[in-house]
Amino acid sequence: MSAIRILPERVASQIAAGEVVERPGSIVRELLDNSIDAGADRILVQVKHGGKVLVKVTDNGCGMGKDDLLLCLERHATSKIGEIKDLFSIKTLGFRGEALPSVCAVSRLEITSREPDQLIGYKLRAEGGKFRSIDETGAPAGTSVEVRDLFFNTPARRKFLRSEKTETDYILDAFSRIALPFFNIYFRLDDGERTLLTLSTSESVTNRLVTLFGRDVAAGMTETQGLDAGCRVKAYLGPAEFSRTRGDRIFIYVNQRNIKDRFLTHAVMQGYGQRLMKGQYPQTVIFVDLDPSLVDVNVHPMKQEVRFQQPQVIHEALRKVVDEALRKHSTPTFRTPAEAGGDARATAKEFALRTEVAEPFQEYLRIEPQEPISWEAGVPQENSRILGQLRDTYLVCQIPEGLLLIDQHAAHERIVYESLKRSMRDSKIERQAFLIPPKLELSLRESRIVLEKKEDLYSLGFEIESFGGSTLVLRSVPSIMLNAGWEAFFREIVSLLEEGEVLTHEKTLDRLLTVMACHGAIRAGQKLSRDEMILLLTQLEEADLPTNCPHGRPVSRKFTYYEIEKMFRRVV
Ligand SMILES: Nc1ncnc2c1ncn2[C@@H]1O[C@H](COP(=O)(O)OP(=O)(O)OP(=O)(O)O)[C@@H](O)[C@H]1O
Ligand SMILES: [Mg+2]
Repeated sequence: MSAIRILPERVASQIAAGEVVERPGSIVRELLDNSIDAGADRILVQVKHGGKVLVKVTDNGCGMGKDDLLLCLERHATSKIGEIKDLFSIKTLGFRGEALPSVCAVSRLEITSREPDQLIGYKLRAEGGKFRSIDETGAPAGTSVEVRDLFFNTPARRKFLRSEKTETDYILDAFSRIALPFFNIYFRLDDGERTLLTLSTSESVTNRLVTLFGRDVAAGMTETQGLDAGCRVKAYLGPAEFSRTRGDRIFIYVNQRNIKDRFLTHAVMQGYGQRLMKGQYPQTVIFVDLDPSLVDVNVHPMKQEVRFQQPQVIHEALRKVVDEALRKHSTPTFRTPAEAGGDARATAKEFALRTEVAEPFQEYLRIEPQEPISWEAGVPQENSRILGQLRDTYLVCQIPEGLLLIDQHAAHERIVYESLKRSMRDSKIERQAFLIPPKLELSLRESRIVLEKKEDLYSLGFEIESFGGSTLVLRSVPSIMLNAGWEAFFREIVSLLEEGEVLTHEKTLDRLLTVMACHGAIRAGQKLSRDEMILLLTQLEEADLPTNCPHGRPVSRKFTYYEIEKMFRRVV
């Protein structure tokens, strides 16, 4: 007896609908796509009860005539492509002819539409995938699609919907993502009587960034563009301080289509690199534009992923644009004002020479200006100098823009890390043999793991031998780490080496360098001499990435005169 059956049409279309419509937010996505494709420049979205009761999208686009209205609910009915090759020159967001039939299969649907050059419009009603009626009606030019009672005929799926608030959040997210790049279209989102979001038209995407990311984040965004291998990248990179524990504020667009692409997200994360703390994600908007023939949009049922012909090229282009922009943007720590007659940027040496050091104070800082500051012009014409050390932990410096605090441990960590990395690359890590080699008492498991990685550790400057049992002897270490606390260091790298099983060799070495830098660097609470402070700042000035320690923590914090004056209400 045969066990295979052809599913009834109703069941088949509900299954197909499941791939397109997961929740009210997916309906908002699809209907917005359609309104944008219809050339509208005003689009209104109205929802009720998290979209479970109603999602309605009204636009002033090209509208549909009676025949098109009757066709648009048929599966694979689309005006956007005619054959497969059209997919590779696609300019529209839709292309499958799946959205409306899918929505219709699981809701009660009403579409009212009038073409601008027609006097009369039509209203079509359907529910659960069944056509009900079509009537003439008066209507404004454009289309309005009303979706009621989502999943009324599939109660099992209705149960998967979340609370009204959560579903509204999904809607808001979908709305924001889709609307962001189309700054010449007016969008509004209403929840019942309340307007949640209005996006007016403007000249550029910038106003949208302010509305969607908030003034502070938007104002701090670094804007950049790059062209590489025929792929144009435009990026708005939020400052690392505003990063989040979730990647929900990384907006990525390929030819204006919002996608959720792990590969491109990875490229962005790599571009930020160590500027981000572990587990943090930036707030950022990325536009990638390339010839449609080089990207396949037909790989995901919700059109939220794409496939590139040359993924590595795109990945590298994006990573580079992000890294370079952030590098340029990270203001050099020390600067002489041009008006003081100096170069825009003082060299490290000049800085060191100009630097005047006040005596470090143990508990708090007393600022004793060396010369009277002239407030006449409102701007003090001072050069950079170190004022002292705060709690033996932070260097306090005067710079032309105001006050600069530097975390001495984080700063030195960065310096040591980069120096170790350079030496490792040139296989020139300087090692220093101990006169009396220290013994390390580790657990059996720990010592086994360390011995297993003996070769790697040797390449980093550690010469280790077994001393019997679980005791190890340390013969030599990289000179830069001579004064580290060995037991603590080895405990930390054991867990890292365990993790190394799943990391690439390069990544493991990099993590090891980070831990080495941390243990080799001067500590918080360590008193520094004047010369040490100058040396530290000079070396930091020369670092590749002076803004963050290898773990991603910030190295310095600047307080501009404007901020200081604001704090004292000298300005408003
Ligand atoms: N708001 C609208 N204004 C004008 N025409 C519309 C509108 N919405 C849909 N249509 C027409 O109905 C057709 C079917 O829409 P539907 O969303 O189902 O498919 P699609 O947009 O072509 O492809 P996709 O399934 O990828 O969204 C569209 O191709 C378009 O011609
Ligand atoms: Mg569509």
